Amino acid sequence: MTHIPRDKGFDSTLALIRDPYRFVQKRCRRYGTDLFETRLLLRRTICMTGPDAARLFYDQDRFIRRSAMPERIRRTLLGRGGVQGLDDEAHRHRKRMFMSLMTPERIGGLGSLTAQWLHDFVQRWALKERVVLYDELQEILTWSVCAWSGVPLRAAEASQWTRDLTLMFDAAGAVGPRHWRSRLARRRGEAWLAGIVEQVRAGRLEPPKESPLRIVALHRELDGELLSPRIAAVDLLNLLRPTVAVSVFITFMADALHRHPDCRRRLQAGEAGYAELFVQEVRRFYPFFPAVTARVRQDFEWRGYRFGRGIRVMLDLYGTDHDPRSWDAPEEFRPERFRDWNGSPFNFIPQGGGDHHLGHRCAGEWITIELMRVAADFLARHIAYGVPEQDLRIDWSRLPALPRSRFVINKVRSDDR
Ligand code: HEM
Repeated sequence: MTHIPRDKGFDSTLALIRDPYRFVQKRCRRYGTDLFETRLLLRRTICMTGPDAARLFYDQDRFIRRSAMPERIRRTLLGRGGVQGLDDEAHRHRKRMFMSLMTPERIGGLGSLTAQWLHDFVQRWALKERVVLYDELQEILTWSVCAWSGVPLRAAEASQWTRDLTLMFDAAGAVGPRHWRSRLARRRGEAWLAGIVEQVRAGRLEPPKESPLRIVALHRELDGELLSPRIAAVDLLNLLRPTVAVSVFITFMADALHRHPDCRRRLQAGEAGYAELFVQEVRRFYPFFPAVTARVRQDFEWRGYRFGRGIRVMLDLYGTDHDPRSWDAPEEFRPERFRDWNGSPFNFIPQGGGDHHLGHRCAGEWITIELMRVAADFLARHIAYGVPEQDLRIDWSRLPALPRSRFVINKVRSDDR
């Protein structure tokens, strides 16, 4: 049996907080392995990186998700009782509900709504001296995902729910008062949506027949029971919150267009297939979701290393997307690399790996790609704007990482090509 290298120091939580995206890969390089062991929040954790580790991590005979997430993430980002913490048949059954929403028509519908809202906001932006793109995108995406899902949103409440949906992902990894604001936002959000679910069930609210709100509100578990209103709210938030979080990727996309004028030119020219390559490279290159966690189901050995039952395992998503064994010059932004990508579900995993239907891979990956495609088209072909002097350095210590200025644009006008 080979010993898993052990990171020095008793607990590495502070090192992880300081550098969440590069923490695992840096240490794996130091030890010359794909894995090492440490303590995170005082719990023994095996950290792993790379495509082979990803293949192992998504083997559900070996890992489970129940109680795998740190409590502070559960109380902010994820909530209790949602699909992420389920295993086996209970998971597959709930996941089917999510995947039933991911038809090309529905995904296209959300894309069209978002395109409309983007165009509406341009009128507003044209009157402003400066526009903070990240902030504006949050509101646009809140409007479009609420309309798409059938969740009623009144104009007077839009900025509050935009703020709360944003706090759930943007402040989940924070420490101190911002973390507490994220927890409060989740409590308010769950209460809001639980109330809406109850109205649907009582017949006081009639969302369209095929709407996500109706499907989640009337979903039945394997035992034939409806979800509790709270858990239905948690899973509705699993649609609303991450859709608003696509604002992070779109902000990075604006950064990529700014740094690589050639990409903008090719998008403007409408070069066939180029938008897809560009979107994929933005998802690979820029930091967003650093890692995912699970627990060992039963003792097993892998490459001579022993994984003991119950130990927490953390898979490095960002590092795997930058692994030089899969990606040539991974620190260069090169959309063309996706022409030759082998399509493996384990080497390009910004939203998790493995199978969407059977495992925990992100249910919203196609929605994310569609919204990014719509945004790329909008930014490159439908508006003109300036990029004033600002601090575009990425803040790597925050979660999610972002350009420090949140990407400011000015002199905005419609410019259809
Ligand atoms: C904004 C970009 C997004 C990123 C970076 C992202 C990332 C992720 C990651 C890393 C996971 C966990 C994978 C795992 O546990 O193995 C996940 C799961 C999930 N995501 Fe996303 N996601 C995004 C957008 C979306 C969207 C737009 C939706 C829905 C509209 C969505 C719905 C979900 C759901 C329901 C799960 C849980 C799946 C399960 O446990 O089976 N995500 N996402």
